[in-house]
Amino acid sequence: MRHLMNPLDFSTDELEELFSLAEDISHDTAKYAHVCDGKTLATCFYEPSTRTRLSFESAMIKLGGQVLGFSEASSSSAAKGESVSDTIRVISCYADICAMRHPKEGAPMVAASRSGIPVINAGDGGHQHPTQTLTDLMTIRALRGSLSGFTIGLCGDLKFGRTVHSLIEALMRYKDIKFIFISPPELRIPDYITDELRDAGIEYEEVIKLEDSIGDLDILYMTRVQRERFFNEEDYVRLKDFYILTAEKLQLAREDMLVLHPLPRVNEISVEVDDDPRAAYFKQAQYGVYVRMALIMTLLGLN
Ligand code: CP
Repeated sequence: MRHLMNPLDFSTDELEELFSLAEDISHDTAKYAHVCDGKTLATCFYEPSTRTRLSFESAMIKLGGQVLGFSEASSSSAAKGESVSDTIRVISCYADICAMRHPKEGAPMVAASRSGIPVINAGDGGHQHPTQTLTDLMTIRALRGSLSGFTIGLCGDLKFGRTVHSLIEALMRYKDIKFIFISPPELRIPDYITDELRDAGIEYEEVIKLEDSIGDLDILYMTRVQRERFFNEEDYVRLKDFYILTAEKLQLAREDMLVLHPLPRVNEISVEVDDDPRAAYFKQAQYGVYVRMALIMTLLGLN
C-alpha cells in the first residue's frame, strides 16, 4: 500500500507516468468513467478548502466512484477529542482511499502510519501540499512543454506558504531551474530550503521588489499571505497587500510568461489580470482535477 505525503514520494519517472495518464484523462475523460466503480474516497478536512476537497471529490465522481467525508473538524468527532490515528482506523472501514487536510504538520503522516487504506496529504499546516505541487507541475508541463530550463519567481508569503515549499523541493530535481524568491523580509523563504538549494548547487536570488525581477521570469508563481498562520493580526494587516500584480506591472513581463497561483486569491492579483493570456491560474485549477484522477487510480493500483 502506498501513501502520498510529499511530492518527493514519487520518482521523476513515476511523476512522468502520472502526468501522461493525467494528460490522457484530460483528452478523453469519458474513457475513465467507470475505472473506480464500487470504490469510495473519504475526504477528511480539518481545515477549510474549496479546490483541494472539491477537486478530489470531482475526480472520484468522474472515475465512477463515491465520496464521503467531513469538511471541518467541528463536524467530526475530533471535536470530542478523537485522535487522527483512531479516526483513520475507522475511516479505513468505510472507504478505499482518504485525502486528509490538517492544520498540524505531520498529522496525515501519523494517519498513514495507522491506516488500512492509502492516505493522501491534502495539506498539513505550513509544511507540504503535494497534490497542489502535482497540479503545478502538470500545468507547467502542459503549458511550457517541459519541466526543465526556466526561471521561476515565487512571490508573496514564502515563509508560511506550503505550496511554495513543496513546489521548490519538487522542481529541484529538474535541470536548469533558477529560483527568484520575492518576499518582504518578514516572509522570506525558510533557511532550510535555501540551505538545500546551496548544497545542491542550484541558482537562486532573494529580492524584495517584484518590479525589479518580473522581466527575467518565465513563470511567476504568486501566493496569498497566509492569515491563518500569523500570530497577530497587526502583522498580517501590515503585510497582506505588499504585492499586488496589476496589468501595469505585467507590462514589464515577457509576452510568454505564465502567471500561476494555487488560489484562493485575496488581493495579490488584480481581477483585470484575469483576462491577460498569461494568466493561467484557472486552467491550473482544472489540471488539478485530472492529476487527482490519475493519482487516485495510481494509489488504488488501477492504472
Ligand atoms: N490551492 C488550495 O489548496 O486551495 P484550497 O485551500 O481551496 O483547497
